[in-house]
Amino acid sequence: MSRPSTAMASLLLLLLFAVAGLSSAARNLDGDVIKLPSESSRFFHNDGDADGDSVETRWAVLIAGSSGFWNYRHQADVCHAYQVLKRGGLKDENIIVFMYDDIASNEENPRPGVIINSPHGDDVYGGVPKDYTGEDVTANNFFAVILGNKSALTGGSGKVVDSGPNDHVFIYYSDHGGPGVLGMPAGPFLYANDLIDVLKKKHASGTYRSMVFYLEACESGSIFEGLLPEGLNIYATTAANAEESSWGTYCPGETPGPPPEYETCLADLYSVAWMEDSDAHNMQRETLHQQYELVKRRTANDNSAYGSHVMQYGDIRLSMENLYLYIGSNPANDNLTFVDDNALRPSSKGVNQRDADLLHFWHKFKKAPEGSTRKSEAQKQFVEVMTHRMHVDHGIKLIGKLLFGIEKGPEVLSSVRSAGQPLVDDWSCLKGLVRTFETHCGSLSQYGMKHMRAFANICNAGITKRQMAEASAQACDRIPQGPWSSLSRGFSS
Ligand SMILES: *[C@@H]1O[C@H](CO)[C@@H](O)[C@H](O)[C@H]1NC(C)=O
Ligand SMILES: *[C@@H]1O[C@H](CO)[C@@H](O)[C@H](O)[C@H]1NC(C)=O
Repeated sequence: MSRPSTAMASLLLLLLFAVAGLSSAARNLDGDVIKLPSESSRFFHNDGDADGDSVETRWAVLIAGSSGFWNYRHQADVCHAYQVLKRGGLKDENIIVFMYDDIASNEENPRPGVIINSPHGDDVYGGVPKDYTGEDVTANNFFAVILGNKSALTGGSGKVVDSGPNDHVFIYYSDHGGPGVLGMPAGPFLYANDLIDVLKKKHASGTYRSMVFYLEACESGSIFEGLLPEGLNIYATTAANAEESSWGTYCPGETPGPPPEYETCLADLYSVAWMEDSDAHNMQRETLHQQYELVKRRTANDNSAYGSHVMQYGDIRLSMENLYLYIGSNPANDNLTFVDDNALRPSSKGVNQRDADLLHFWHKFKKAPEGSTRKSEAQKQFVEVMTHRMHVDHGIKLIGKLLFGIEKGPEVLSSVRSAGQPLVDDWSCLKGLVRTFETHCGSLSQYGMKHMRAFANICNAGITKRQMAEASAQACDRIPQGPWSSLSRGFSS
């Protein structure tokens, strides 16, 4: 009798250990630690590991970096992404959403309380957790959430990626960007080197198995190019390479365009490419690589001027995995096999991210009744945006000439380093020069991000802060007033 009871005892002990080991991950599974194999299959996967039965949780961080109705599409993208994950089986406690949340109840919104992400799309706003909204949508909070560091948070729901070593993390960002930076509705830009440091820290903490990062922004390739090393178990794709714009879609005047009452773009090209693919396909059968190829083709938009080059970075080998591991899969698509086809045809045109605000004010102006307050308001907004743009463009061009000479100035500012090299070597120099510029010339703001390469090149040329201050003071004799000024916008670094 002693042998069987010893065996029973060791079995019990083993079970005990297994349960203890599971407890951290099980926290996220509604507390039901022990599941029938059939029930738990959604949380298990076999990737050839000897311990193919390890418990894993899928985590997601979704973030829209903008505010304002003219930026409708970024928050619409993020809400749609939430619905994809929710239908895929992820739980709210594992999905952390950052959105300014000024769209659904915006006075410009033709359908109050509703956000759509495609011309005939359903509401994507319902049910979206409001973890970090308004002024809590900052780069610092985003980093704290990824790292799972609650004490570093300011405001918000306090939800963080409290992940374990077997977990999968999916991060999706949509907004404006520029070389080396991503926009945030509140506070300074997110700088690429800070993000990479956070990802390295997360890796060093041993709190994920693998991570996928989908990034929509102008020049989004510059966030990872020459910066994201292999070996962190991170696979990233970006809407654009390091030197080009990304594109809004379902914009007024486009085919297909938004319903006529909308004076703003509903979506972004790369973003809807991955989400509409995920909506229509069986994610248990489709690999990250297959989606990358589909998204790349659709985002290129027949290689027209209205498309961009989708890029991939980091541990490319991860792209052989199924999307299911990261974003789950809608059970309604279970019986579908992978079809290498884009359900949606490319759009006829797109709108450059940087011109989408102008487009909004322009359509608002055109449609407003003659002589109405709305018409004059739209005209004022249009003029303010244009004035800000000209001021920033002119200031930077002039600084280049002051620093490097009339001939060489423009050439130095616009030069692009060879592929595989990061934008800049000294990121604190970059941040310092941006601050110096803004002290004299006012806020770069959303539009001014496009000049980050110029600042980077000024750093790479060894210009000091003092030289930059002198040139900025000469180039800008005043800080402009208006909503785009740093007087109301604060500093970007
Ligand atoms: C969390 O953030 C706080 C405040 O920024 C910092 O002091 C602390 O070192 C961080 N903890 C970890 C584990 O990184
Ligand atoms: C998938 O196919 C099986 C067998 O034909 C069927 O019983 C099931 O209802 C289908 N599932 C869905 C979601 O259509």
